[in-house]
Amino acid sequence: MSNIEAMNLRRSVRRYTDQPISRSHMDAIKWFVTEISPLNDIPFDIIFFENGKLISESFKGIANMYSKVIAPHYIAITSKEAPGYLENVGFIGEQLVLKLTALGIGSCWLGRSIEQKYFNQISSIKTNQSYVILISFGYAMEDLYPISKRNRLNIEDFVQGDIKENFMPILNALRIAPSAVNSQPWRIFIEKNTMHLYMKTKNFITEKLLARMNLIDMGIGICHIIKCAEEIGFKTSIFKDTTLSKRNLKYILSVKFSN
Ligand SMILES: Cc1cc2nc3c(=O)[nH]c(=O)nc-3n(C[C@H](O)[C@H](O)[C@H](O)COP(=O)(O)O)c2cc1C
Repeated sequence: MSNIEAMNLRRSVRRYTDQPISRSHMDAIKWFVTEISPLNDIPFDIIFFENGKLISESFKGIANMYSKVIAPHYIAITSKEAPGYLENVGFIGEQLVLKLTALGIGSCWLGRSIEQKYFNQISSIKTNQSYVILISFGYAMEDLYPISKRNRLNIEDFVQGDIKENFMPILNALRIAPSAVNSQPWRIFIEKNTMHLYMKTKNFITEKLLARMNLIDMGIGICHIIKCAEEIGFKTSIFKDTTLSKRNLKYILSVKFSN
């Protein structure tokens, strides 16, 4: 299955059957980890919790269903904290999510589930790294099917500039990407054959957690942009233009497309 097909099938799965995934599926996803390409060179690690109880036990007492997704298995991503690490975690994790989807396995990013202190008790983390986020996975209670209608912004609501027809599949791939509380923080400015990516910023202190999650969302969005562009025949190069800035937006990076 192509990445574009997987993007269309993917949704956040919050209800799983009790059945653990097959050995061959588990091996395939673990093998895939060796093929993942990161966005930068910040050290990270991917930890599998084949026995999901180790994680879900910690959800006891949590009333909020958004934080409490019970699944047979979980993946945790840890990373060294350095500028760009959250975008990298999003970029890496979404490759896993798309692979899981292609294998017919449901998944859900879980940003609010467990605390660092608890994580340290149940797993060993590589030196200088911290726990960042979880992804739940398992066979979905309701089968995965291509999703034709999603609750999302229209492309013209988050893209400005000359929207070329051949960029539409890429912008649509970004449009359907998952984001924390569906916040869709990406804002795109197109200049000739380049997309400049910005993140919508919030000023309230209560939005601090979301700002952290939104950097992960940006990495997820970049994953959809790059994987889709490559599949439809574009070459991509990522660069940073430090002179770029816009009010109420945080500049993340730029992607140049060529044939
Ligand atoms: C970084 C991140 C964190 C998320 N955290 C949670 C979470 O804690 N609980 C949850 O149920 N869904 C979580 N989600 C899933 C989003 O709510 C979901 O992606 C969004 O509502 C869009 O729906 P869709 O994924 O079905 O397309 C998270 C998604 C992302 C990308």
